[in-house]
Amino acid sequence: MCGIVGYIGSKQAPSILMEGLSKLEYRGYDSAGIAVHDGTKINLLKAQGKLVNLAKMLENNQIQGKAGIGHTRWATHGAPSDINSHPHMSEDRMIAVVHNGIIENYMEIKEELSAKGYRFVSETDTETVAHLMDYYYKQGHGFLESVFMVLERIEGAYALGIICKDYPDTLIAARKNCPLVIGKGQGENFIASDIPAILHRTREVYFLNDNEVAVIKKDSIDIFDRDKNKVDRDIFHVNWDIDAAEKGGYDHFMLKEINEQPKIVQDVLSIRMKEDEDEINLEGISLRKDDLKNIDRIYIVACGTAYHAGLVGKYLIERIARIPVVADVASEFRYKDPILDERTLLIVVSQSGETADTLEALRIAKRNKARVLAIVNAVGSSIAREADDVFYILAGPEISVASTKAFTAQVVAMELICLHISMETGKMTKAEFSAARAELNSLPGRISEVIQKCGEESKLAEKYINSKNVFYIGRGLDYLISMEGSLKLKEIAYLHSEAYAAGELKHGPIAMIEDSTLVIAMLTQEELFEKTLSNIKEVKARGAKVIAIALNGNDSIKSQVDDVIYVPRSGWMTAPIIANVTTQLFAYYVAKALGTDIDQPRNLAKSVTVE
Ligand code: G6P
Repeated sequence: MCGIVGYIGSKQAPSILMEGLSKLEYRGYDSAGIAVHDGTKINLLKAQGKLVNLAKMLENNQIQGKAGIGHTRWATHGAPSDINSHPHMSEDRMIAVVHNGIIENYMEIKEELSAKGYRFVSETDTETVAHLMDYYYKQGHGFLESVFMVLERIEGAYALGIICKDYPDTLIAARKNCPLVIGKGQGENFIASDIPAILHRTREVYFLNDNEVAVIKKDSIDIFDRDKNKVDRDIFHVNWDIDAAEKGGYDHFMLKEINEQPKIVQDVLSIRMKEDEDEINLEGISLRKDDLKNIDRIYIVACGTAYHAGLVGKYLIERIARIPVVADVASEFRYKDPILDERTLLIVVSQSGETADTLEALRIAKRNKARVLAIVNAVGSSIAREADDVFYILAGPEISVASTKAFTAQVVAMELICLHISMETGKMTKAEFSAARAELNSLPGRISEVIQKCGEESKLAEKYINSKNVFYIGRGLDYLISMEGSLKLKEIAYLHSEAYAAGELKHGPIAMIEDSTLVIAMLTQEELFEKTLSNIKEVKARGAKVIAIALNGNDSIKSQVDDVIYVPRSGWMTAPIIANVTTQLFAYYVAKALGTDIDQPRNLAKSVTVE
């Protein structure tokens, strides 16, 4: 949610900032801007719309300078417009600021500064920071001291990049509850919201912690805590490949990421399960028998797609390990005074590891002495750093805003954790464990099969492209996967779609079914097949068109529905993961046929660092 980049060194900053922004556009793409210090003054360029608009502007206005900050925006305060774009500057261009997050008390500060004669031009909260900086600075406090004073005054969440006209050799960064990394180069340094923005330039990064401020010059990086004490920070070496953040010949990141799933699942399985061992290797994660004895309540908390993975986790842990689990969306959990104590285990799930609500859920749990296990993709992210234990899903950078590979890996992580808990608590025999392991081991091959035979999804996407309302239905795990399938279609194809527990349809939503309403029925849970089939008949009788997603060999379904997409036969635990790949592909091809912006759908952002 909003991307920040900054550079200071001996090279020309504009192209480096633009390169960084292009890698961060997934975080927000309604406007972009850069501010560059040319040694004597700060030059500003900003443009509404995608980065390409700013690039065109830059072609016609060649600004120069060896230090600068850039921003790609996801609007929170004020509509997307040139004027609301970042960077924001003080009136006489002394200070320029880029910001990710929300300054909650900005109205109050704005009123105070307006009374002092400051003139605001935008509707943003961020402009307050530029003027407040200017105010303290003009009172005679230095650049750094003014930043500290601003941070004392503002409330909310922020990652900030700030430059000052009087300090051409200095870039200051600060963070609270929003991600920020500092890249260390040779005679040049960087800041960024996320590693891919600077990975072309350096692999050595420092993670800035909450309430820290960094003073960055071309040959030095000094990090201070809120009490202005210098802190030592270990450098983190990024070892993943740059190609992982590039499209690699695919039309879209989403398609590339769908295609990466077999390998990701294979990798995580090979680390966590050994052929000759009757246990999951959770590497130091405190979920042994003795730890579990001390747990009497489990919550799984997440947002969006990660929440759907959490629901699968709840289903599995309750059904196999026989432990009650509450699953909740983080934005609700954090405000309901949840029952938490030292006997609670909170499992948070997050691709980015930076989602504001999920991070806050973690912090509430920790304040109440609960144990926190995080299932995270982004290595070194806030959630990963603050949790007691981390299960990294190792899916590599996910750039497409609509999550695919991270979801699959999160569900696999949930299955592994569930098997582990079940074995530790004696709820599963060795034979059952071996069967489950074999089922999981067959996943990569079966997902590959679905991806290779994607012709059906593409054909049906064309056929049903004019659907106005789409219902995804299923029972048990199929229902949970329906929720994810439906979300994908909404996110990237902008089609109204809902997921319903198949048995619940007749309690209301069936009123919406009319001629040609599209119903996508998931049928991987064989014990529930007949039940869902009855619900299919109910919607067919009311004119719906039905696509069934069924297991290979299920010939009887053909005559009951309009179309069938067959997926490789697998056990009940893994079949829904395979079927989900089908719904990913279906959403992708519908969106492609509709010509939407698949990787950067309207109004969305990949990493939601505001409430
Ligand atoms: C945003 C993204 C979703 C994602 C959700 C949670 O809404 O667009 O794709 O599922 O945030 O993100 P997280 O990084 O915590 O998994």
